[in-house]
Amino acid sequence: MRIDILTIFPKMFDPVLNESIIKRAQAKGKVKIYVHDSRDYTLDKHRKVDDRPFGGGSGMVMRPEPIFNCVEAIRRKAKKAKIILLTPQGKTLNQNTAKKLSRLSHLILICGHYEGIDERVRIKLADKEISIGDYVLTGGELPAMVLIDAIVRLIPGVLGDKNSLNFESFEGNLLEYPHYTRPANFRKMDVPEILLSGDHNKIEAWRRMQALKRTKARRPDLLKQ
Ligand SMILES: C[S@@+](CC[C@H](N)C(=O)[O-])C[C@H]1O[C@@H](n2cnc3c(N)ncnc32)[C@H](O)[C@@H]1O
Repeated sequence: MRIDILTIFPKMFDPVLNESIIKRAQAKGKVKIYVHDSRDYTLDKHRKVDDRPFGGGSGMVMRPEPIFNCVEAIRRKAKKAKIILLTPQGKTLNQNTAKKLSRLSHLILICGHYEGIDERVRIKLADKEISIGDYVLTGGELPAMVLIDAIVRLIPGVLGDKNSLNFESFEGNLLEYPHYTRPANFRKMDVPEILLSGDHNKIEAWRRMQALKRTKARRPDLLKQ
């Protein structure tokens, strides 16, 4: 998979792309991630990426020109890319969307700032609009990082143990069962005995019951699905 990111704050991505699973996924050649500074695609000498809104009102709006220029430059080499606009007005990200996106070969992520992006970018370029939740952040960089993390770990071969994906929250519309590790007794709190029994069938049944109980208590909406 290839991911291109358009941003006016490219340095924000350094720590996230150069640590942990995302770093390893790139090293293994599972994903190639390119961060583009939208300012490099401006044509004026001040490298201006924003301007005042037509019609008046507060704040600034991101100009369409650098974004169109950058997308066109990327698409010249890779025509099939799906363009995603990060916006609080988009469809809320969930595991199903992350799965679908993880099967695509090329994504272009557009990060907004200020009051948002000139509407013509949405109309003409965006294939999909994604929100990471019903709250407003200052920019699309953190949402893009959330989306990349959610997608990259689902690419086959990225996680060491592919079973981690089969038994995790939202698989089969359930939240995952609780986990315990050593020591078996910690500050007078015991690990449930069944987990120490070595009886895999009983452990599996216990975990399933825990997952159902948790989902019913915390996310009954998932069970209805
Ligand atoms: C301050 S927000 C703009 C909000 C816009 N004025 C509105 O009311 O819908 C600036 C940028 O941050 C990003 N952003 C903020 N919240 C987001 C969210 N929940 N999900 C995805 N992107 C978000 C978007 O890229 C957006 O263009």
